[in-house]
Amino acid sequence: MPKYSRELIDEVIEANSIVDVVSGYVTLKKTGRNYTGLCPFHNEKTPSFSVSPDKNLFYCFGCQEGGSTIDFLMKIENIDFLEALEMLAARAGITLPKTGDFDEARDNQKKRFYQIHRDLANFYYVNLKRNEQAKNYVLSRGIDQNIRKDFGIGFAPNAWRAGIGFLTERGHTIDDMIACGVAIRNDRGDIYDRFRNRLMIPILNSGGKVIGFGGRKMNDEDNGPKYLNSPDTPIFNKGYELFNLNQAKKNISGDQLIVVEGYMDVIALCQNGVKNCVASLGTSFTLHHAKLIGRYAKEIVLCFDGDEAGNQATQKALTELKDSRVRIKVLRLDPKDDPDSFIRREGTNAFNQVLKNAMTSTSYLLKELEKPLDMRSEDGRIKYAEGAINILSRLDSDVSLSFYTKQIAGQTGISEQVILGAVQKNGEARDRAIGRIRLNYQAKTKKIKKAYAQAQCAVLRLAIEEKSAKALSQFSSSYFSKGFYRNVFEAIMDCANAETPIDAISVMSVLADEKDINTLQKLLVSQDEDLININFDEAADIINKNYLENEITRITSEIKLCDPEDTEQRQQLLKQLTVLKTVQSNKEEANGKR
Ligand code: UTP
Ligand code: MN
Repeated sequence: MPKYSRELIDEVIEANSIVDVVSGYVTLKKTGRNYTGLCPFHNEKTPSFSVSPDKNLFYCFGCQEGGSTIDFLMKIENIDFLEALEMLAARAGITLPKTGDFDEARDNQKKRFYQIHRDLANFYYVNLKRNEQAKNYVLSRGIDQNIRKDFGIGFAPNAWRAGIGFLTERGHTIDDMIACGVAIRNDRGDIYDRFRNRLMIPILNSGGKVIGFGGRKMNDEDNGPKYLNSPDTPIFNKGYELFNLNQAKKNISGDQLIVVEGYMDVIALCQNGVKNCVASLGTSFTLHHAKLIGRYAKEIVLCFDGDEAGNQATQKALTELKDSRVRIKVLRLDPKDDPDSFIRREGTNAFNQVLKNAMTSTSYLLKELEKPLDMRSEDGRIKYAEGAINILSRLDSDVSLSFYTKQIAGQTGISEQVILGAVQKNGEARDRAIGRIRLNYQAKTKKIKKAYAQAQCAVLRLAIEEKSAKALSQFSSSYFSKGFYRNVFEAIMDCANAETPIDAISVMSVLADEKDINTLQKLLVSQDEDLININFDEAADIINKNYLENEITRITSEIKLCDPEDTEQRQQLLKQLTVLKTVQSNKEEANGKR
């Protein structure tokens, strides 16, 4: 059920300048009617991101993200449609009408779920003091009283319905408890607490509301996983939340935020004064997470466990983050350590020291690349150089590129020039690929000139009226604009080739697209004067002229985009261009004489 009418949504969009909204996130430069800038949704050096104030749209030629101001906000702020709409309305000073029943119900439900979590967190917190075993466990983990309080760490009693009983007293319903994940109803209809006999760590959203829990078992022999987490619910989505972000964002230091694997790592770092740290919640670290962090910090330091699993997780995260705008560094610990054990044993200064020496993601990837290779063998060095060139091709800065090129040249004995050349070629191949996408896109969306459109309509209509493709034989598909015109031309040619009569019914039955059939029907009955009065030769002239123009533009761009080393292709294109230009000037001359 849509909450607001299309008209209202449009009104809200129109009330905001897309340029102003986007400028809050991207530095835009005016170029002609549009604005351009570096795309916030992928990593790029040259601006492919454009904003059209006339159409109230944005589009990136590089990654092909595009849409309205609402789409932009949803994407960049990681929010849903309604939230984006509300943001825009507030920005323009528009008061949205009171919400409909459905959404009021949704909002109320969320409010109740937050309240359940808040109440339950208090219940667990108070309970910890009453349980000797839990108190001892907290002690044994070295968690001090202040930090326990800061994190609101508690204890879920070893009973089936302690939480449910408490929440019922506070007026919450069983259905709500189940829906927000704190109670479970099994197949037989029994209802019981999800969390039992566990140390309870509340998970807060970045606004500071409790939205879930991580429960750690206190004995290895106990049943179930080491950590039991809340499931995803209407108020908790693991892919979008980070443990401790609400505190970490207020404690950004040196523009950095440290990402660790576990709850206990965050707790130990915070206890030791390193408060700018977060952890993902039993899921891998995603681009969404990185974007979320990107709102608060410029640099992420991945500091996962020192073991091989932590290494794998680091590699996975780097692949995931390769288009992220945030700078990424990597801090690797000894295999036996995680941040928790390291900082507790070595102390804050030691941690800050290794943090200062964190590797750039490039250094880390190069090191990982080298690990399995025998660099004393020629084969090993060549493999290394090849891999390294791919890694360097992702670099944005010339300074870094020069730095690593030197390093790799030193390691492999391959000259810096050769390495740089190869990196450049990789980069150019990518730029060309983007260029081609752009070209394709422009071809698709290029406005067909009115006269050209009419001329195409006229010749196609005449052919069908005369039931003959003869007059069309001077053209080929590429003389017609992609889409409707080209499809109809091809349908007519198909009929001609199959020796079926060229009448409206046959042509329509060849057309695949329902929309084309409709358009053709309209075209055939149109009483448009311009269409009726145009004669075939005039129309053919216009089509020829436009074809030449379009081809010249297309080939000129292709020459620009073609691989400079592929001289054969280049020559071929240049030749085509010359031919086309000659034809064009001959025609102009002939027209002039007429
Ligand atoms: P770890 O096993 O490294 O946990 O898992 P940890 O935080 O270092 O905890 P301690 O020190 O052993 O007590 C890292 C994270 O993976 C998720 C949790 O978010 C945990 O913090 N995890 C791990 C689970 O969700 N379930 C599990 O059973 C284990
Ligand atoms: Mn760990």
